[in-house]
Amino acid sequence: MEEKNVFFDRKFVFLSGKGGVGKTTTSSSIAMGLSKRGHKTLLISTDPSHSIGHIFEKEIGPKERQIRENLYGIEINVKEESRKYIDGILKQAKEILSPVILEEVKDQIELAYHSPGAEELALFDVISRFFAVEEKYDNFVFDTAPSGYTLRLLALPKALNNWINRLIKTRINSMKVEYYATRNPDKKLKQKLEEDPVLKILYKRKEQFELARKILLNSEKTLFMFVLNPERLPIEITRDSIKELEENKIKIEALIINKITSDSSPRSEKEAEYIKEIENEFALRRIFKLPLMPEEVHGISSIEKISDILFSQ
Ligand SMILES: Nc1ncnc2c1ncn2[C@@H]1O[C@H](COP(=O)(O)OP(=O)(O)O)[C@@H](O)[C@H]1O
Ligand SMILES: [Mg+2]
Repeated sequence: MEEKNVFFDRKFVFLSGKGGVGKTTTSSSIAMGLSKRGHKTLLISTDPSHSIGHIFEKEIGPKERQIRENLYGIEINVKEESRKYIDGILKQAKEILSPVILEEVKDQIELAYHSPGAEELALFDVISRFFAVEEKYDNFVFDTAPSGYTLRLLALPKALNNWINRLIKTRINSMKVEYYATRNPDKKLKQKLEEDPVLKILYKRKEQFELARKILLNSEKTLFMFVLNPERLPIEITRDSIKELEENKIKIEALIINKITSDSSPRSEKEAEYIKEIENEFALRRIFKLPLMPEEVHGISSIEKISDILFSQ
């Protein structure tokens, strides 16, 4: 069975699901399993609570850090990254532009980063960055933010494209107005447009988004999974989320039902019903099952255990 495991042949794995279902735990386990089988793997956490460092009992920060053989981790504070990026661009712009124009450009750059949904956009930036260096690792496992958030993010590319085109147009128009108001311009308009740092940034972002969208929609390369627990509400949320994602052409090919109790309590009986329901409803998808571990999930050994269960299915 192991060779057929769906994790091996997808470069990018994304986990969705609401907070607390076990995304960080399962993504860590998938990354661990891949690395143990010789795949050089990067585990990417965008969770501000920095929980992969906690799980692996290692300081993991915004720089890629080796956790063990073939396994690397990185924790990214999306908000912070986005701020740093904007500041960098502004610094660049300051060196090139006059103070008056700089003010206007500042507004345009801030606008580009703070609407619509700055964080979704910033997270998108982070993801795109890894798409651009895909040859560095055999596999990338993303422990993403909670589902509603991710959902909006993934639904964004089309809207993003329209929106970035609008920003480009606005910038070109404002440069035209400025150009025709200048008596003796030092350069031709065409050249000015070509050299404009704001347009350069916008075109670069457009390119990035297009690459990201292409990869996200490429199911030979990318695997989307949902993590849920065997309870009423998560099933409903999962159903809605899958529908919404698929409307945006993102296929959810696998589910992980996590924290299944295995005693013979009434709770466990109820869970069995829910699991059946999930299996019937999502019959076309790959379904993994994970027990509720009796001990606290913490440290490499418990992740190894979960990983072995996942990779044996
Ligand atoms: N199969 C499991 N058995 C026992 N505890 C689990 C299991 N999966 C996750 N947990 C625990 O549940 C909590 C939430 O898991 P986590 O992976 O952080 O969820 P998420 O990243 O989706 O918010 C953590 O304390 C984790 O240790
Ligand atoms: Mg988490």
